[in-house]
Amino acid sequence: MINWKIDEEGFFEDRITANGNKFLVGNGYMGIRGTLTEYDKHKFTAVNLAGIYDQVGDGWREPLNAPNGLYTTVELDGESYTLPDKKPAFHSMSLDYRHGIFSRKTTWKTEKGTLTVTEERFASLKEKHLITMKYTVTSERDGIIRLITGIDGDVWDINGPHYDDVLLSEEGNIIKAVGITHESKDKVVVFEVYNADFLSTEEIHKADRTISRVLTFHAKAGKTYTINKFISVFTSKDREDYMDRAKTVVDGAEKAGYEAALKSHFKEWEKKWSISEVTIEGDDAAMEGLNYSIYHLHCIAPRHSDSLSIAARGLSGQTYKGAVFWDTEMFMLDFFLFTEPEVAKTLLKYRIDTLDGALKKAKSYGYDGAFYAWESQEGGYDACSDYNVTDVFTGRQMRTYFKDKQIHISSAVVYGIMRYVNYTGNKDLLEEGGDRVILECARFYYDLLVKRVPIDRYELHDVIGPDEYHERVNNNAYTNRMAKYTFDSAVTVLDWLLKEKSLDTKALEQKGYDLKGLKATYEDAAKRLYIPEPDEKTGIIPQFDGYEKLEDVGLGELKGRILHEKEYWGGAYGIASHTKVIKQADVVTLMNLFSEDYSKDLLRKNWDYYEPRTEHGSSLSACMYAMLACKCSMPDKAYPLFRKSADADLSGGGKQWAGLIYIGGTHPAASGGAYMTAIEGFAGIHEENGVLKAKAALPAKWERLSFKLIYKGDLYGVMVTKDRAEVTLL
Ligand code: BGC
Repeated sequence: MINWKIDEEGFFEDRITANGNKFLVGNGYMGIRGTLTEYDKHKFTAVNLAGIYDQVGDGWREPLNAPNGLYTTVELDGESYTLPDKKPAFHSMSLDYRHGIFSRKTTWKTEKGTLTVTEERFASLKEKHLITMKYTVTSERDGIIRLITGIDGDVWDINGPHYDDVLLSEEGNIIKAVGITHESKDKVVVFEVYNADFLSTEEIHKADRTISRVLTFHAKAGKTYTINKFISVFTSKDREDYMDRAKTVVDGAEKAGYEAALKSHFKEWEKKWSISEVTIEGDDAAMEGLNYSIYHLHCIAPRHSDSLSIAARGLSGQTYKGAVFWDTEMFMLDFFLFTEPEVAKTLLKYRIDTLDGALKKAKSYGYDGAFYAWESQEGGYDACSDYNVTDVFTGRQMRTYFKDKQIHISSAVVYGIMRYVNYTGNKDLLEEGGDRVILECARFYYDLLVKRVPIDRYELHDVIGPDEYHERVNNNAYTNRMAKYTFDSAVTVLDWLLKEKSLDTKALEQKGYDLKGLKATYEDAAKRLYIPEPDEKTGIIPQFDGYEKLEDVGLGELKGRILHEKEYWGGAYGIASHTKVIKQADVVTLMNLFSEDYSKDLLRKNWDYYEPRTEHGSSLSACMYAMLACKCSMPDKAYPLFRKSADADLSGGGKQWAGLIYIGGTHPAASGGAYMTAIEGFAGIHEENGVLKAKAALPAKWERLSFKLIYKGDLYGVMVTKDRAEVTLL
């Protein structure tokens, strides 16, 4: 059995950044990086907020980090004890990932005796605007202790500073920091109240965007002194009375006390695990990695909103601009569909509510329909820049075409909505505008079709598939198949609209949609759209036109050509661009999604062909290979790839740089991919004529895999061994 704890003993300065991700706590509204209370912005400290962005000058638009209300340092007899400046005698950090609680203990040797501090903190899962922290200090000798504790508004920004000003004030026992954002003059408000089990003198200091209390007291040898901090975080976007609420939340929490806040937080986490826990008998390490991944998905679920999605790096900071990619629909959605469909709905509502942004984006390129943002921020604004990578050799910006050419993003939105309809059995999302999204995505692909007149077929040219190393290719198999899926889905939805009274057909007709005409159009498009076929001799589906003619170099040999450790492999001159080496699962993603269209032999041939040619340079890659391996009855080949996904944030691996751009952070798509691999791969959960079925493909060590899931509103228990697979209605 696992103990639901991640522990690290010893202090390693070079792990500060990676541990910020590994020890993160969060509640969907905010993520608090696993850094220490004494750290400032140079240690990538952040209370990262969901769904609120700012841009300064020509810098990238990115999400905000709130002023850090946890900020605390300690002095004994005039000497400061902080990491990393003062080497500790003992240091440990721990994350209780069953309950989202971070703790640390650090002991320093002083001239006489030791000084020990502990902290424990969480972002309440019950009250999403509340952070709570318990901080203790114990000295082995009598002395004067000064605790400096407050709100640090000099926050870490990649392209900031995002606050033009940070207003510092106090009111009764509350101290406040209010950041005024640069672009929209929104306010980010942090209030803090504390209580202590000792008497001290208190002074308030304000300097450098930081407000702090200095608590000074005579410490007795061996006695532990405790303060509890209650911190509320709101923004002016949350609600009109955000200031009043910020006060009510800290006042209420302080009155009820630390233990009460902890108890309600704890209970909320247990509720989540009562459905989402996955048990693996025979392999504790895998069970730990998987549930730790699930922990991260819970930490970033936007439960405080009914229309918000998840950024590619979750709530771990500003990398990837806090933007939403296809990662959400294709990698994270299933977890929420199976364990908390309301959250799945919130994620997809975000796409419905950002349709206007997608229509505008299509129009800006001269196309009809909905072209969703490759890097979506609020309103569907595409934050993806034309220059995503810096050439390490010349220092020049490289033109990349992710935003312009990764048209498969719109089909991911359609896929998400249709999957929601299928797995919940509800058409509510269609009624709330999902129908229009699907029709507009179909319209977009329709407008992009290139007709090859002599052979009377449609193609899609000049695109980028999931493998970003090969830009501007024709007939990327994945993209074409997903466009066909979009046309098919549009036809299904049009059928429902024409036949079912419950759907609001009139609203669409009034908007000018000719439902019957569109149905015929998209039926035809789906039929004529070219889907690259497996080669007759080899069985391999070419990733795009001409892929087979590229240089077939081994991954090892290609790596030997690297001149700079941070050079970019794709783009015009990248080392992979003119070879068959790909960044991430592409054809394999296609085969995974549409495995029923191919024989097992073909699935296997393509897996065998593409896997050695894949760098797995994106954390989205391994799980697709893992799932397809399960479908090919190769669970032991799937296993290391599953572990790679599940352990992505535990091991602190993964790419930290793309060219000269820092891309570190948590990897929610890998977490979601690990979940999908366990549920849909190893347990083989799938639908058969509207009935949920399991089909076991367990790795050698696994004796039993069990979990619960929600399907069409009912809760099921699933238990899988090597020779049994049971799905039971609970
Ligand atoms: C991958 C994309 C992914 C993005 C965000 C990129 O490196 O190639 O497929 O959507 O990261 O995770």
